[in-house]
Amino acid sequence: MSESRIIVALDFDNAESALNLSKKLSPQLCRLKIGKELFTAAGPSIIEKLTRVGYEIFLDLKFHDIPATVAKACKAACNLGVWMINVHASGGRRMLMAAREAVPAHSTRLIAVTVLTSMDTHDLVEIGYSMPPQEIVLRLARLTQSCGLDGVVCSAQETALLRRELGVDFCLVTPGIRLVDGESHDQKRTATPRQAIQDGAHYLVIGRPITQARDPYQTLHDIHQSIRV
Ligand code: C5P
Repeated sequence: MSESRIIVALDFDNAESALNLSKKLSPQLCRLKIGKELFTAAGPSIIEKLTRVGYEIFLDLKFHDIPATVAKACKAACNLGVWMINVHASGGRRMLMAAREAVPAHSTRLIAVTVLTSMDTHDLVEIGYSMPPQEIVLRLARLTQSCGLDGVVCSAQETALLRRELGVDFCLVTPGIRLVDGESHDQKRTATPRQAIQDGAHYLVIGRPITQARDPYQTLHDIHQSIRV
């Protein structure tokens, strides 16, 4: 099993590109994240192929539905042998509890998304959330923890607050990671790998800084070294 805290986001629309990149990386230095685009295009066989060569997979499908449906989807995802899956915390307590029951503790890690970082205050007000975004995030993260899930996805901005409020054991998975001298692409609130780990992230989700690097292995290796404690 990898001890690395780096999860590389395979944001591709076909299996071949994902497999090609995986060959340039190493299961000793990272895990891989498969999201809706790649999973929909390539199907479950991509998970089998990557698992066979030693990678642990975060299947980022963000389930959000009635409790029974989410429970069954979680169970099906676990049966694919993935390392981590996620649901939307805004599905509420009964949905989160159903997911927890479907995924035995200490097997596949089960985490939740709080508020999508693409949503700003205006978007939130429009759907009836009038609290400040950080309060909504904290509230949903507390709910997630109280339902026994293993952690949440959170932006670099929220990592320190959630670590303080939710304790050291609650798993924080942080995307929006950018290298000191790198491009920010469409990410607005970013942190360097070192900053995010210092703020209390357990795992860093990193996409383009690695997938679009001239030498993905070297970049992964350098990030790995920069966050070693
Ligand atoms: O290329 P980049 O490093 O921005 O990729 C980050 C990955 O993390 C993408 O797969 C993106 O969808 C995901 N993500 C994110 N922000 C969130 C949740 C997930 O960037 N709040």
